Amino acid sequence: MVIHAAAHTDTAGCEADPELAMRVNGEGTRQVALACRQSDAAMLYVSTNEVFDGQKEEAYLESDEPNPINAYGRSKLAGERHVLSMLRRFYIVRTAWLYAAGGNNFPAKVLQAAANKSELSLVTDEVASPTWARDLAQAIVRLIGRPTYGIYHLTNSGCCSRYQWAQRILELAGRGDVTLRAIVQADYDAPYRKPSHSELANQAAAALGIVLRPWQEALQEYFLTAPARAGR
Ligand SMILES: NC(=O)c1ccc[n+]([C@@H]2O[C@H](COP(=O)([O-])OP(=O)(O)OC[C@H]3O[C@@H](n4cnc5c(N)ncnc54)[C@H](OP(=O)(O)O)[C@@H]3O)[C@@H](O)[C@H]2O)c1
Repeated sequence: MVIHAAAHTDTAGCEADPELAMRVNGEGTRQVALACRQSDAAMLYVSTNEVFDGQKEEAYLESDEPNPINAYGRSKLAGERHVLSMLRRFYIVRTAWLYAAGGNNFPAKVLQAAANKSELSLVTDEVASPTWARDLAQAIVRLIGRPTYGIYHLTNSGCCSRYQWAQRILELAGRGDVTLRAIVQADYDAPYRKPSHSELANQAAAALGIVLRPWQEALQEYFLTAPARAGR
């Protein structure tokens, strides 16, 4: 079993150099799949909510047609397509908004920004599911214990906007004093767009009894169990 989690994940970097994004996330994944095929290994490819365009008004099913709107999403989808076409024994696990102790992730960035500013601006038109990498890892361990290959959506359940996620992070970190300003993606000059609503519905893994808890519970435990490493 090969778990392929490496990727060029810098969305702005992917937009600036889409060929590099394709080389790493598309061709790189094809090479991993080729090695799996040659050695008769199964493969798990970690993919993303950003393969979807965010226009669906409900959560995306595993069977929904991807339609990425940025170079990162297009390159991750290229990786998925290589895995699908080259291997019989594969899991494609789409996830979203990962965080874990020690990483350069959204909770750490929010707390870092709050240490320097008394007001932060966060978007309300990017909605997905914050997911503790530990919960995802535990779900993956359960999933690969079975030969039920295919596409899976694994995130902590529920969804929120970046604004709401930051609000909860600041509360849990005891920084409710920071003022949050609600903005939309069009208000700032990012070179890319993120899907506006890319919640992932977990149908396939739920049928196997694998369901991740609500994002609020996971975030709270993350702060309770690893406060120092969470950046407090
Ligand atoms: N973070 C999220 O919110 C999120 C959401 C959905 C899906 N995902 C997916 O989850 C996986 C892990 O994401 P992450 O946020 O943990 O990523 P990350 O922190 O950016 O780490 C990416 C890893 O990939 C390695 N890597 C990058 N380019 C490489 C290359 N050309 N050759 C070999 N290794 C390379 C990096 O190695 P170095 O450290 O040596 O550079 C690093 O260890 C990715 O597949 C990503 O697409 C992430």
